[in-house]
Amino acid sequence: MTNNPDNSSNSTINGLTSQESPATKITVRKLNLYYGDNHALHNIDMDLYKNKITALIGPSGCGKSTFLRCLNRMNELINGVKVDGDVIIDGKNIYDKDVDEVSVRKRVGMVFQQPNPFPKSIYDNVSYAPLKHGIVKKGQICDELVEKSLLQAGLWDEVKDKLTQPGTSLSGGQQQRLCIARTIAVEPDVILMDEPTSALDPLSTEKIETLMLDLKEKYAIITVTHNMQQAGRVADYTAFFHMGDLIEYADTETIFINPGKKKTEDYITGRYG
Ligand SMILES: Nc1ncnc2c1ncn2[C@@H]1O[C@H](COP(=O)(O)OP(=O)(O)OP(=O)(O)O)[C@@H](O)[C@H]1O
Ligand SMILES: [Mg+2]
Repeated sequence: MTNNPDNSSNSTINGLTSQESPATKITVRKLNLYYGDNHALHNIDMDLYKNKITALIGPSGCGKSTFLRCLNRMNELINGVKVDGDVIIDGKNIYDKDVDEVSVRKRVGMVFQQPNPFPKSIYDNVSYAPLKHGIVKKGQICDELVEKSLLQAGLWDEVKDKLTQPGTSLSGGQQQRLCIARTIAVEPDVILMDEPTSALDPLSTEKIETLMLDLKEKYAIITVTHNMQQAGRVADYTAFFHMGDLIEYADTETIFINPGKKKTEDYITGRYG
């Protein structure tokens, strides 16, 4: 299993030479997860990179969302979950006893399949977490952070004259960009996205994909998608999961054009899933 797409020192990966090799942001080692008796993730080893988009693909129920939630300890919110193994972010295992899960979720933000703005104004959706975490105080600095986050999320021009209107009054695609603005307002390092465009029309999808390509300049992005074309368009690396196993992980071109495993090939050619 190729668990590190950049583990051969002299090879060229995705047009990168070894000198330009990506910086590791997250190191996952021997990660196992159990929902009660259901052993949902099996011994996952994987490195995830800064300034890259990594796509997680695989049939329904293979563990993509489960894996994603391990990266910010969101699974702990589910009763009966047991997680084993290491998820090391910037050298520190986020499952260590002295790590506070709220601080992890601030550094590792998440965007969900269904846009889920708070029942608050557009402004409050973006300012809520930074105010709560004490990143800013009310006033001009907060206004500036709201503007900056909405600008980065590509939504500012569409909402700047109606910041006091409810977030839920926006279109689905705008709501998803609002949720992205809300996520980046706390200045995370990593953004997790679980099928962020599956509820959106093609135009909104294109906007989110363009946004993802912009955002990777600042963040490590890990996204789940059932849309192979989307993985091809945005992802630097792609990981194929099947029944709780990480089957293959490599640069996206390899996964789609020259996969090393029969299971991967069967999946991407549409034989199952
Ligand atoms: N909250 C939960 N409680 C118990 N079991 C769960 C829970 N969430 C997921 N599972 C189980 O874990 C396994 C992996 O599910 P997961 O949701 O991670 O799959 P997925 O790859 O994201 O699927 P999909 O593409 O349908 O979203 C499945 O067997 C599922 O039934
Ligand atoms: Mg899922």
